[in-house]
Amino acid sequence: MSHLDDLPSTPGKYKTDKALPYGILHHHRYLRLSKPTLWASLFLALFLFYLLLSPPPTPSRRNLNDSPSSLSAKYGGSQWEKQVRKSAHPRSPGGLTVLVTGAAGFVGTHVSIALRRRGDGVLGLDNFNKYYDPKLKRARQGLLERSGVFVVEGDINDAVLLKKLFDVVLFTHVMHLAAQAGVRYAMQNPGSYVNSNIAGFVNLLEVSKSANPQPAVVWASSSSVYGLNTKVPFSEKDRTDHPASLYAATKKAGEGIAHTYNHIYGLSLTGLRFFTVYGPWGRPDMAYFFFTKDILKGKTITVFESPDKGSVARDFTYIDDIVKGCLGALDTAEKSTGSGGKKKGPAMFRIYNLGNTSPVPVTKLVKILEKLLKMKAKKKVMPLPRNGDVEFTHANITLAQSEIGYKPAVDLETGLKKFVKWYMGFYSKKKSSW
Ligand SMILES: NC(=O)c1ccc[n+]([C@@H]2O[C@H](COP(=O)([O-])OP(=O)(O)OC[C@H]3O[C@@H](n4cnc5c(N)ncnc54)[C@H](O)[C@@H]3O)[C@@H](O)[C@H]2O)c1
Ligand SMILES: *[C@@H]1O[C@H](CO)[C@@H](O)[C@H](O)[C@H]1NC(C)=O
Repeated sequence: MSHLDDLPSTPGKYKTDKALPYGILHHHRYLRLSKPTLWASLFLALFLFYLLLSPPPTPSRRNLNDSPSSLSAKYGGSQWEKQVRKSAHPRSPGGLTVLVTGAAGFVGTHVSIALRRRGDGVLGLDNFNKYYDPKLKRARQGLLERSGVFVVEGDINDAVLLKKLFDVVLFTHVMHLAAQAGVRYAMQNPGSYVNSNIAGFVNLLEVSKSANPQPAVVWASSSSVYGLNTKVPFSEKDRTDHPASLYAATKKAGEGIAHTYNHIYGLSLTGLRFFTVYGPWGRPDMAYFFFTKDILKGKTITVFESPDKGSVARDFTYIDDIVKGCLGALDTAEKSTGSGGKKKGPAMFRIYNLGNTSPVPVTKLVKILEKLLKMKAKKKVMPLPRNGDVEFTHANITLAQSEIGYKPAVDLETGLKKFVKWYMGFYSKKKSSW
């Protein structure tokens, strides 16, 4: 996947502690030095030790005790607060007031626009990181602005900012979609997964549980939690303790973490396990997207097959179906029960699969794209490397159907047609480096 190789790391990732100076403290040579030199070197060593261990001044390490001075300059002000309030204010009576994290992302953009369209109030939050072309995120932001959704540029690890947002707006719901997505990128930048999917999620839950009133939280988990399971279709009751990637492991950790916030603080929590979402404004790091780009360029695409020569298959789910599932989850979420950061009674905890229930081999995906693009793909077939991708996914959606009214309606060919139409329009206008 060479197109990922030269990507810069996402901001906010942890520094690795490869240079811990243990040697300085334990080396025998220092014991033979004169007393003043010994003290001076000891002092220097301690000072170096402190420097190396002290947290980097990134937003990821900021917490509630830090001074908000730098923040007020960046986020504050009456004009900013006005924009925030206006965006979050529901137009229809009884409408929800939703904080959407990852709003400039693929799913976040579609969910935000759908909520706003039906009269709910929506405030977006996104850090616009460079995992994939930020120009696409900015274009989505333009679309959001035209629909009346303001996107605050900030990180979910920034507790001061999150607290500020909850001070300005009484959110009834949080739709948490911000995450480090992608499976293979974890081998280049593992810290970004821990930072966004674990630390950032905990920070968001901390601020949510302390808010008065507490919002109901719906968040994106992933079908990847089913990992190496072989029993199909995947059901919410199945065990999920064989993740095949760090991404999957952080999503699985998120489900456990969410459960503790439900148990201890009475937060209403709903996790949605999305199955390979695709569609207009999609993610350039996903196969259907870069296959389209490469086929159009006449570039060879790599199609993976499983070790037994079987085709790799995915339960591709069209974005509009996912959006309906997200809205269904928000609409059926009961209120959180805690207040003042304390649990007052049991609150709901739910996990649902949002898939299409008809897995399609990747070879079939390529055939559909060839037909839609009216071009023959140059293919190279290779065995699926063991770097995080699983051989197949297939959702059992019985539970989501009966409890949140989820009913996928778009098949892969219909959905890809809409994607290709968007792709051609978007990239012919832009004349960008694609
Ligand atoms: N698209 C899929 O097929 C799929 C499948 C399963 C799960 N999911 C999950 O659904 C959610 C949305 O996915 P998507 O496809 O829209 O991905 P995306 O990358 O397009 O959207 C995520 C957005 O979150 C933002 N973000 C990342 N880290 C952040 C941070 N620390 N603070 C603030 N913003 C941050 C990014 O800038 C991005 O705009 C993610 O949680 C993802 O893991 C997606
Ligand atoms: C799907 O899940 C439901 C429970 O949610 C279960 O009753 C049903 O047997 C499952 N179907 C299959 C085909 O596994």
